[in-house]
This record gives sequence, structure tokens and C-alpha cells, in this order.
Amino acid sequence: MAEALRVGIAGLGTVGASVARVLAHKTAELTRQCGRPIEVAAVSARSRGKDRQVDLSAAAWFDDPVALAEQADIDVFVELIGGDEGPALASVKAALARGRHVVTANKALLSRHGVALAEMAEQKGVLLNYEAAVAGGIPVIKTMREALAGNSVTRVFGILNGTCNYILTRMEAEGISFDDCLKDAQRLGYAEADPTFDIEGHDTAHKLSILTALAFGTRISAGDIYMEGISNISQADIRAAAELGYRIKLLGVAQRTESGIEQRVHPTMVPTASVIAQVHGVTNAVAIETDILGELLLSGPGAGGNATASAVVGDIADIAKSRPGFQHGPVFGWPAKQLKPYKRALMRSHAGGYFIRLTVLDRTGVFAAIAKRMADNDISLESIVQHSAGADGQKTVILVTHETTEAAVRKATDGITKDGHLTDKPQVIRIERAG
Ligand SMILES: NC(=O)c1ccc[n+]([C@@H]2O[C@H](COP(=O)([O-])OP(=O)(O)OC[C@H]3O[C@@H](n4cnc5c(N)ncnc54)[C@H](OP(=O)(O)O)[C@@H]3O)[C@@H](O)[C@H]2O)c1
Repeated sequence: MAEALRVGIAGLGTVGASVARVLAHKTAELTRQCGRPIEVAAVSARSRGKDRQVDLSAAAWFDDPVALAEQADIDVFVELIGGDEGPALASVKAALARGRHVVTANKALLSRHGVALAEMAEQKGVLLNYEAAVAGGIPVIKTMREALAGNSVTRVFGILNGTCNYILTRMEAEGISFDDCLKDAQRLGYAEADPTFDIEGHDTAHKLSILTALAFGTRISAGDIYMEGISNISQADIRAAAELGYRIKLLGVAQRTESGIEQRVHPTMVPTASVIAQVHGVTNAVAIETDILGELLLSGPGAGGNATASAVVGDIADIAKSRPGFQHGPVFGWPAKQLKPYKRALMRSHAGGYFIRLTVLDRTGVFAAIAKRMADNDISLESIVQHSAGADGQKTVILVTHETTEAAVRKATDGITKDGHLTDKPQVIRIERAG
């Protein structure tokens, strides 16, 4: 039997403890699949006394993950602490500097420092594996990096945050408000006490920035991503979407356009019959469109201890199977030094269909004024529906446009707002083409 692969795990929380448990419970299977045992040789966390529901007494304990990365007798450093600075960054750098393979689930870290860390890994000839960092248990990194060789990606998009999808699914299924859904999600442990990071789209943006690099061979730049969260989605939007044959999903989308690479995270109307519209609850999905394959959709559990551990263990197993001296493929599919700066497509040039919901005063001339603003901006309408006025003297006008640009829609809605007929801010939701 070949020598054991010695693993050091820094971070024994939801994911880290699950990884340690899977490695303990699946020893025989992993040894058979990898041709050598995988041994947890060292661990680090904040609190040494905490019960991790796995026997780690044979592993060396380190209070400091950087010391683990530098001093422990290990082949692989597994970073499961989280955060884009501090101990996560310092320990990953320390491990790579010593020529140790690294496995991480940390999208925040890769989104910010991925290219520099990939350069270090490639220069040292070691692996930096991060399957769990995007869409948890779904093997999207391997698919994009390995299975799609030769394909040119035109668009990649997905439901990348389970908390948002859970909230939107329940809002639609049960007719309850965003705030009530969020409270339930927090009670059930699907949402953090401070949910801003998830619901305002930051988490999706981190994951999307990694997918963009893999799709287009570009440098990672999360700061370029246009971002809107789901906190202003109301029951009125959900109901109107359903009437029009759409469902609202928070999508991350990266696509190649004539004006550059477009990266955006926002609530999106997708046709109710599309495959991605059937992805409910905390489930994640990633759609990849390429010239050779066409459209591929992967869906599955995007978070949680076991699902994420599945991806982390897969990454560790790949290292166990790799042969010494074998040249590893580049971290982001292209050598990190060749990842290109790119032309960023501005959101104003985004082209697509739009849903616009207006709450207006019930008086003559309003409808004509809205139609005029649309026509003045060359926006052609697929449908326009007005609901009869309520007791409050307000009515709702819902417009669905044919393909137009973001710039035209912004100008038209600014004009309608200036006309003084609205009683509320216009609600604009982009429509996404999906098969
Ligand atoms: N949870 C998921 O479903 C999921 C899914 C995909 C990716 N991820 C990613 O996986 C990573 C870990 O997430 P998680 O949910 O497992 O986090 P978590 O439950 O908060 O666990 C974090 C772990 O890091 C340890 N830690 C924190 N600061 C430390 C320090 N200075 N030195 C040593 N250890 C330290 C903590 O120790 P104590 O336990 O002693 O406090 C804890 O064990 C993150 O990058 C996250 O984005 C998570």
C-alpha cells in the first residue's frame, strides 16, 4: 500500500467537522478509490475543547492555523476557516509558500486573492482545489475546468445562494412577505443573523466572479459585478410574474457581449417552464452555455456540512490520486499569469426584456403619458396591463418590454417619475432568457 496522504484541517466548524467525519467514516472506500489512505494528521480551530463529533485525538492540535500550515507534517492544507483576510489568507499563503497542496471552500478568499494564490500554486507546482467554493456540493469547477475543454463559453448563470432561493420559493408558494420568510429562514438556520451578505447578492457575486474567470479566462474582479439583492421583491411582483408566466430567481449571470464581459447579480424573471425555474428551496443550479455542447444545467445542494464536505473530500481525493512529479493543470483553467484583464460591459448597455411595475394615481392621461415615455425611448412593449383602481385611488400598470437596453429603460422610468403620476418608485425586474 502506498504511503498515506497526510492532511491538515484548519477550521472545524460546519464544513471542517463534516470533512473530518467523512474522512473517518469512509476510510475504506477512499483508500480503495485513491490507492492510498487519507489521514487527518493535524487540526486547528479556535476552541480546542469543543465536541466535533469525531475522534481527532490522533491529530496534532495547533492553536494557530498558520503554524499548522508551516510546521505540521502534512501534504495537504485544508482551509475551512472563512473570510478573505486574517488567518484564512495567511495560512493558505503559508502552505503554498512551503509547496503544500491547498484545498479550500472559501469563495470570499478566492474572489479577492484567487489570481495571486493561483500564481503561487502554479509556480510551486502544487494544487489549489476549491470545488466547494461555488455551489457547494455541485461539481461545477471540475465541469468547467476539465469536462468542457475545447468549448467556448458564451454565458454562465445560476442560482448560487440557497438562502435567497429559499425565501423566493416560500414567498411564491405561501404568499408570505419577504420579511416573514427571512425570519423563518433565520429560525431554521438557512440565513445568518446578519443576512445582508446573502440577500443583497454579495455571496452570489463572489461565486460568480470565480465562474467568470473559468468561463472566459479573465482575471477575477468581483468589484466589476453589478449587484441588486432581493429585499425589495414584494408579493405584488411575485403575483404579477406568475400571471405573466414567469418566476423570480436571484441569478448571477456572466456573459460575453459585443461591449465586453457582463457580470450581474439581480432578481430575474425566468419563464416558469424553464428548467432553472424548477429549482426550489435551498437547492443551487448552474447553467453553462457553450458553442459545442449547447446548454448544460447542473443542480444540487449548494450548502450544508455534508454537501460541502462531499466537494472538499473530492478535492482531497484528487490530490491523493495525483502522481508525484505530474504537472497539474492550471487553477482557473488558464495559467494564472495568462488570465486576461477584460473589457467590462457596463450595465447601461445590457440588452434584454424588462418587467416594469408602476403604481400610479388613477387619473386621466396617465396611461398615455407612460406609453409616450416608452415610445420616446424606442421601447416596444410585449404587453401592458392596468389593474383597476383600489379604494386608495391608486392603480398598478404592468409593462413587459421586448428586447431593449438598460439605458433606455432607465431613461423611460426617470421620465415617468418626473411626470408626477407615480405614488411609489418604479419596480424594474430584468427578464432572462432560459431554456
Ligand atoms: N457552511 C456551508 O454550508 C458552506 C458552504 C460552502 C462553503 N462554505 C465555506 O466554508 C468555509 C467554512 O464555513 P463554515 O460554515 O464551516 O464556518 P464555521 O462553521 O463558522 O467554522 C469556522 C471554523 O473556523 C475556526 N476558526 C475561526 N477563526 C479561527 C482562527 N483564527 N484560528 C483557527 N480556527 C479558526 C472556528 O473555530 P471554532 O469552531 O473553535 O469556533 C470554526 O471551527 C467558509 O469559507 C465558507 O464560506 C461553507
